[in-house]
Amino acid sequence: MHVAIIMDGNGRWAERQGLPRLVGHANGHKAARRVIQMAPDYNVQYLSLYTFSTENWRRSKEEVDGLMRLIEETAIEELPVMKRNGVRILVSGRMGDLPESLQSTLTRAQQETADNAKITVNLAINYGGRAEIIDAIKKLAQQNIDPNDLTEERFAQALYQPSLPDPDLLIRTAGEMRFSNFLIWQTAYTEVHITETLWPDFDATDLQAALEDYRSRSRKFGGIIVE
Ligand code: IPE
Ligand code: IPE
Ligand code: MG
Repeated sequence: MHVAIIMDGNGRWAERQGLPRLVGHANGHKAARRVIQMAPDYNVQYLSLYTFSTENWRRSKEEVDGLMRLIEETAIEELPVMKRNGVRILVSGRMGDLPESLQSTLTRAQQETADNAKITVNLAINYGGRAEIIDAIKKLAQQNIDPNDLTEERFAQALYQPSLPDPDLLIRTAGEMRFSNFLIWQTAYTEVHITETLWPDFDATDLQAALEDYRSRSRKFGGIIVE
């Protein structure tokens, strides 16, 4: 099963406690580590985590710089743990616009975990669903694809992670009811679970509730269920 998460509410979490937003982000990263660790116990083989969007550059320089630093620190600290725990890391997004040291850290994380098979964690960093679609179109144009040969399958193969199945479940924390440019092609038939829990507070109980909600749905993919 593939679970995608829009990890939202770090700022509000910090604000509620009178702390700087970056403290909220640091605690958000702790929550991400927790979820990566427990996911295999819940049969989640693929986990996509929305970490930084193509629109998040609009925030203050202080917050953006802090986030870049935090992502790199977490990646460096967690890499040995990921290696030990069979986590395969993938990174989706426009890597070229990230600070160079972060780019090399993320490249190393992907290389050193490439053979791991317990769970695949797809980190969406400088990721935008529309940017991904544009990048796929550019790739296909460079391959001189004949428009008559273009199918949904062929198009999906040009997206950032052709080896990942579409998400079965999308979780968004902090109550917002929108996709904010996350995996917009891949979520065409994804079930959505929105929780009021702020991301830094997200724990096993929240994951269980989301999975239970998912199991109660009947997925029809446009068809009808014959009882
Ligand atoms: C999500 O938390 C983390 C990122 C978008 C990087 P926010 O920072 O968006 O938290 P809120 O929405 O302000 O509470
Ligand atoms: C989505 O959250 C992006 C990430 C979680 C990385 P935002 O907080 O940026 O989304 P909006 O601005 O509320 O739509
Ligand atoms: Mg937000």
